[in-house]
Amino acid sequence: MTSYALLLAPSANRVYAEAAPRLARAELAAFGRVVDVKDTGGQTLGGVEYLTFDTLDGDLTERDIAHLSNLSAAYALFARVGDLLRPVPLHPLQHFDDDLITIPKYAGKTNEQFTRLLLNITLLASANAPAMLAKRLTVLDPLCGRGTTLNQALMYGYDAIGIELDGKDVDAYSAFLRTYLRRKRLKHTAGTTPVRREKRLVARRFEATLGGGQRVLTFAGDTAQARLFLRPGCADVLVTDLPYGVAHGSRAGGAQSRRPLEVLARAVPVWAELLRPGGALGMSWNTHVAGRELVAEVLTGAGLTVVTGPGYEDMSHWVDQAIERDVLVATQPAV
Ligand SMILES: C[S@@+](CC[C@H](N)C(=O)[O-])C[C@H]1O[C@@H](n2cnc3c(N)ncnc32)[C@H](O)[C@@H]1O
Repeated sequence: MTSYALLLAPSANRVYAEAAPRLARAELAAFGRVVDVKDTGGQTLGGVEYLTFDTLDGDLTERDIAHLSNLSAAYALFARVGDLLRPVPLHPLQHFDDDLITIPKYAGKTNEQFTRLLLNITLLASANAPAMLAKRLTVLDPLCGRGTTLNQALMYGYDAIGIELDGKDVDAYSAFLRTYLRRKRLKHTAGTTPVRREKRLVARRFEATLGGGQRVLTFAGDTAQARLFLRPGCADVLVTDLPYGVAHGSRAGGAQSRRPLEVLARAVPVWAELLRPGGALGMSWNTHVAGRELVAEVLTGAGLTVVTGPGYEDMSHWVDQAIERDVLVATQPAV
């Protein structure tokens, strides 16, 4: 057995305030699906608070470290040797520079660290968890705003699909991505085309293919009509942050975004169809507009199984006066 101490990124405290250690522990527990560690709580060492855990047997393997490097709040990891700390280098999945995720700033953006947490725990609940570091998976955000999830998926080396009702958001995302790829001199092709069904425009489709073969697709359209432009089983995981039912900053967000439960009820059956067998859906929402039971019922009603157990039931946290955010992950049967 070896003991480890994980230093949380200062940004975790800014995002979650006093809930930061609890959320980091919940995420570590979810990583328990691929890495065998025992949470030993937290400890203050030299005046700094660390999250501590033990291996069950021997040191962390290279593969364990590769997984834990992606913890959304990880800043630095140390093996404990007596009362000394030995640094363990972290090497998170990083297919692009960090600024792919940090440059976009706008009202209504889902925090990038939280987006990574949501993507991680969803991947870990899916049948692809053991292959999450190796395979080029497909992540779908069916309410993608200006693309925080899509960029996080690209960072992991995955393909990304986004759907967003607000055409201005989709345009802002495609303009950002094109400029970013051009500025970084990354080989790519990109273009926008209309999607018509029976002579009616149902969505605008943007597609970018990157040098290494990674692909980003976005659709300006209604997520509940996604079957008009996406085929069943097109995504390995679906990760989304629901409208909060409150206006963000100066941006009212449109009538749709103030009715999150309606969006959910119309869209979840469609989202379930888009998920491959063995896939997982992870979502966050404001519990002031819908309780956990109600959201879980909508997911179960679409044939999905809500994930319970270590980590998955302990992620509710305060965002601001109008928002208490919770997280649910559900899986699609593997056959
Ligand atoms: C909380 S925001 C997501 C923000 C996003 N994660 C980001 O960081 O940019 C929810 C989004 O859902 C979109 N939305 C609401 N109803 C929709 C619908 N029926 N179809 C597609 N998008 C919808 C809203 O326009 C809003 O951009």
